[in-house]
Amino acid sequence: MLTMYQMINSKIIAYVNGIVKAGKESALFWAVDPQGKDVALKVFLTSTSNFKKRAPYILGDPRFTHLKKGTRNMVYLWAQKEFKNLKQCTRHGLPVVKPIYVSKNVLALEFVGKDGVPATTLHETDVDENDYNQIIGIIRDLYKKAKLVHGDLSEYNVFKTQSGLVVFDFGSAVDTMHPNAQNFLERDIKNMSYFFAKRGLTVENPVDVLAKIQS
Ligand SMILES: Nc1ncnc2c1ncn2[C@@H]1O[C@H](COP(=O)(O)OP(=O)(O)OP(=O)(O)O)[C@@H](O)[C@H]1O
Ligand SMILES: [Mg+2]
Repeated sequence: MLTMYQMINSKIIAYVNGIVKAGKESALFWAVDPQGKDVALKVFLTSTSNFKKRAPYILGDPRFTHLKKGTRNMVYLWAQKEFKNLKQCTRHGLPVVKPIYVSKNVLALEFVGKDGVPATTLHETDVDENDYNQIIGIIRDLYKKAKLVHGDLSEYNVFKTQSGLVVFDFGSAVDTMHPNAQNFLERDIKNMSYFFAKRGLTVENPVDVLAKIQS
């Protein structure tokens, strides 16, 4: 709460309209900036011990070496990590939600959607071959250009908008040098391939996709 007031004081946002979604580990608020643009505030809940499970996604990443102990610090670090991952993606021109600001457990993002309603995810909408090709291209560019692996890619973490797919939820993303990066990459490709296959589309063998991306 205090962090949200600080964001109002520092003109990141003008006001908060309300809560959009409350999840187990985070809650999403719809806020508006001083120019009238919608902002999504992803607030990480500091009370959940679930964050302990997240250590493997941070330890081993060359960008995060000095770690303080404790769940609260872990949550702050997680928010910073998602912000950093998104920055890295936007720098390389990848279609991800644009990061605006991060402070403690609150991450401010460009709001994807309208009137406080988030855009539809792949899970909630019809998909076609073009969507499949797009997501494989994004996984490849993430790996080759941004040097990242999403690590939690699924139909729930990709918006389908009029201007194409937009990927979000980058807290789990790791540097390609992370010891588990190859496993995460393989899992991301499999998750997306199975989803599109389940929807009746012909997909390339995930093993071949993986080999191509790594070549
Ligand atoms: N930038 C955004 N603009 C609009 N809506 C968003 C944005 N980011 C997230 N959302 C909404 O909030 C939901 C949860 O976001 P996200 O996946 O990043 O958090 P999470 O902690 O992984 O939650 P979950 O466990 O539900 O996946 C998304 O499904 C989406 O509907
Ligand atoms: Mg998610």
